[in-house]
Amino acid sequence: MKILCKFSSFPQFQKISQCFHLQSRNASGNVKQTRSKTSTSVASAAHSDAIELFGKFYSRDDYTNVTPKILSLVGKSLLNQINHPLWLIKERIKDHFYTHYLSRYRNPLFSVYDNLSPVVSTEQNFDSLLIPPDHASRKKGDNFYLNQTNMLRAHTSAHQRDLIQAGLNAFLVFGDVYRRDEIDKSHYPVFHQMEGVRLFTNHELFANVKNGEELDIFEKGSRTPCKQQSHTLEAVKLLEFDLKQTLNKVMTHLFGKGLEIRWVDCYFPFTHPSFEMEIKFQGEWLEVLGCGIMEQQLINSAGAQDRIGYAFGLGLERLAMILFGIPDIRLFWSEDERFFKQFQVTHIDQNITFQPISKYPPLINDISFWIPREGYEENDFYDLVRNIAGDLVEKVSLIDQFTHPKTEKISHCYRITYRHMERTLTQEEVCSIHRAIEKGTVEKLGVEGRF
Ligand code: PHE
Repeated sequence: MKILCKFSSFPQFQKISQCFHLQSRNASGNVKQTRSKTSTSVASAAHSDAIELFGKFYSRDDYTNVTPKILSLVGKSLLNQINHPLWLIKERIKDHFYTHYLSRYRNPLFSVYDNLSPVVSTEQNFDSLLIPPDHASRKKGDNFYLNQTNMLRAHTSAHQRDLIQAGLNAFLVFGDVYRRDEIDKSHYPVFHQMEGVRLFTNHELFANVKNGEELDIFEKGSRTPCKQQSHTLEAVKLLEFDLKQTLNKVMTHLFGKGLEIRWVDCYFPFTHPSFEMEIKFQGEWLEVLGCGIMEQQLINSAGAQDRIGYAFGLGLERLAMILFGIPDIRLFWSEDERFFKQFQVTHIDQNITFQPISKYPPLINDISFWIPREGYEENDFYDLVRNIAGDLVEKVSLIDQFTHPKTEKISHCYRITYRHMERTLTQEEVCSIHRAIEKGTVEKLGVEGRF
């Protein structure tokens, strides 16, 4: 799976329908409520051999790699905290789709979901999207598994098949997603995505085309770089045009008329052809979303074989960071009033100019160790650092590695940048955290310290 933002079921209908929560539209876009308090943890490790999440137990096995730190973030629901910047972006996108895309009876065309459980089966996250069993994106090193069959979703695409199967033809899903990753200002192991899917019947797709009734979405021809085997080229070209236009419009709605956009071809296992949108920001092209024409096999497996469709996915933190000038992804998790106050709008379209909270100085410490001959994964180290130092760690980078000429042992040296978002850290507190990290790496990762 090409995963966005590197800037990259049914256990069936009843199960999912319990979690579905169709959000109703706030007609005027006015915001009256105040921000709700952060929720308490929904996870507990009651049994040492099972993980409890949203009241359900998941027995641990050799796939389990979800950490207490990550579990403590599940259920925080930043997207549903009024006046949170991610909530604000969500509301702006919803508003755009609700006002511009109406059904024949003038109801919103797209259904919006923002409360689906992030706990999904590996079948939902991968197989339902035709991701092969040996695909690199399933790696334990990149995902948070509860056990062999359940995980924290790595993308909101995990819901595509089920929502189509539930009978929807146009929907948006907003949700928190979980990926093991490096640590820096723009990567955090939990971030938020929006997924969109729209399906068309033959009639809907060609309704506004001259002689449309003579055109078809399906044919017997062969697969080419521009289209799948069963699709006609005219159907795909029309769909691609509609898809790109829809996304150009939503981005222009968010960023304003002067936005420069370019499209590049890419690859996702569940869409063909696939595209990425890049936008120009401060002279640099940044990737902001992925999309494509959905694999017909996926649509067919969900029982909508008479339709053709497209899907798109975008990372919300990235958009919010660009739009509001938020310099560090950890700020989205901050409880600092000085951060939130800035998003206290009376109307969702109100302009916001974010004043960066004054930066407190960083403290930098290095750590070096010999890695074991087998079984060492860099992401295990990053998780361990996060578990011990939490949000005090701003960045971890591998600054040096070498192989000893005689013993052939490999040494890694990482530089850890500590910084508190709200105050100056003292040398002593960082020292004791750094010592705990040294101890942890030896005990948990089997490395040989060079401290
Ligand atoms: N799920 C993809 C990712 O996380 C994004 C995507 C969604 C791509 C929908 C195409 C269609 O990278």
